[in-house]
Amino acid sequence: MDKIKLGPMPYMSVMPTLLVGANVRGKPNYMTAAWATVACMAPPMVCVAINKARYTAKGIEENKTFSLNVPSASQVVKTDHCGLVSGTQEDKSGVFASFYGNLKTAPMAKECPVTIECTLFKSIDCGSHLLHIGQVVEIYADKACITDGKPDITKINPIVYAQATYFDVGKQVGRAFYAGKAYKKE
Ligand SMILES: Cc1cc2nc3c(=O)[nH]c(=O)nc-3n(C[C@H](O)[C@H](O)[C@H](O)COP(=O)(O)O)c2cc1C
Repeated sequence: MDKIKLGPMPYMSVMPTLLVGANVRGKPNYMTAAWATVACMAPPMVCVAINKARYTAKGIEENKTFSLNVPSASQVVKTDHCGLVSGTQEDKSGVFASFYGNLKTAPMAKECPVTIECTLFKSIDCGSHLLHIGQVVEIYADKACITDGKPDITKINPIVYAQATYFDVGKQVGRAFYAGKAYKKE
């Protein structure tokens, strides 16, 4: 197989499209983020890489809390807006209606079907970006997006990010922790 070198870059095949919620000077601010994933099982943790220049970074530093909000494909315009415009230029507190959970300082977007409320566990300085690791204190989900007590991807219809493009979730190709059982050594 022919391989070419693409050089070092922060590549990942697919990423989620999320909104990071943080209060900056007492007002909610939402920032689009794709560089995010799960960080730990016990205790439950998630993480997001945020450029030091972002307005959101100030809010996380100020309160030591933040939220990750999962928008639906139908919210792609508002979601992209939060990635095009900074809270330093425009008050984004009205783009999504906010609610607060146990922490009182991590704003969450009511319209998003799933929202993850976090306390800041650690911020790792990686250079241009700080990797913020958050301990999950609560997850709020729309009842309509739940199947058997769990968030249902087909009902949430989240936005997948790759190649500076938004996609929806494609077809199922197998069952995890199961498909591999069919493997046969050649
Ligand atoms: C699809 C998309 C994904 C983004 N992902 C990130 C990210 O993971 N980390 C980051 O620092 N900025 C990311 N950005 C850029 C910020 O969302 C953008 O600079 C935003 O205006 C920052 O808002 P703020 O200054 O109000 O925090 C992304 C933008 C878009 C459109």
